[in-house]
Amino acid sequence: MAAPLRHMLRDDDVSHDEQLQILRLGMKFRENRFHARPFEGPQAVAVLFDKPSTRTRSSFSVGVAELGGYPLVIDKGGSQLGRGEPVADTARVLTRMTSTIVWRTFGQDRVEEMARYATVPVINALTDEFHPCQVLADFLTIAQHRGGVDSLAGKRIAYLGDAGNNMANSYLLAGATAGMHVAVAGPYGYLPDPAIVDDAKTIAKHNNGSVLVTTDPFEAAKDADCIFTDTWVSMGEESEYATRSKPFWDYQVNDELMSHAAPNALFQHCLPAYRGKEVTGSVIDGPQSVVWDEAENRLHAQKALMTWLIGKQREDDDLLA
Ligand code: CP
Ligand code: NVA
Repeated sequence: MAAPLRHMLRDDDVSHDEQLQILRLGMKFRENRFHARPFEGPQAVAVLFDKPSTRTRSSFSVGVAELGGYPLVIDKGGSQLGRGEPVADTARVLTRMTSTIVWRTFGQDRVEEMARYATVPVINALTDEFHPCQVLADFLTIAQHRGGVDSLAGKRIAYLGDAGNNMANSYLLAGATAGMHVAVAGPYGYLPDPAIVDDAKTIAKHNNGSVLVTTDPFEAAKDADCIFTDTWVSMGEESEYATRSKPFWDYQVNDELMSHAAPNALFQHCLPAYRGKEVTGSVIDGPQSVVWDEAENRLHAQKALMTWLIGKQREDDDLLA
């Protein structure tokens, strides 16, 4: 019987131990870019974009090539998906030609539908709801700077700003999975979906972590080992630009806010960043910022994730170690 197919559609698609396994693999890829080459052949990996990207596009393209594979990068305007071909039919076609499907799109329902019809792993490269690849890289960055993968459990992380967006949701679920103490702060009207908060609380309890959702930025930042923020205007929300600045000013990550975190707390931002809005230049370009390591870690974390998913599918323990 074939191994059950695994996907990464949201951060809690992996257990605590599985997340650790992926992050340990990520560390191995950090040390040796050619640690494993599961796509040697080369096999193709479809990398689809319905939204713009710099980091995700470059890290998946380079990452697939370094895994011995061929990245088949397709933009919305360049595929029939953009003209309304059903997701299910796209999945049926791509699954015959590729080893993995990576997709950045709008609704989470779209990646779920892709996964329902694909017979290869599907990876969410950002939806309106989640950005799990980013958070794997972010946790790898904490591990890199603060004592390795095995010291992630128990760390305090805080996310400030648009707490109703994909990054906030992913920190909640991934942080809970890691057994961290996760705090998320934003203004009323921009807080996470209660269903996701409930899921995160259940997972956190199981892993000895905790979840705090608050409108008080200083309560969230208190004693945090790492502070995160993100743009106040996510992709697809450009028409709300004028209304989306005002509510967030109290959540700007500046020197005063950082002084409430633990001494020498790290600062991370998934990027692209808007200096003078969600973060000041003094913080993102300052000594506590690790945003360039974070961006590089997209490459290592995603290579680890692709290798792990393929290892599971092939039941190849060598690929998982
Ligand atoms: N952080 C991130 O996903 O960046 P891109 O939008 O450039 O891919
Ligand atoms: N929340 C942002 C993340 C960008 C990587 C967006 O969805 O645009």
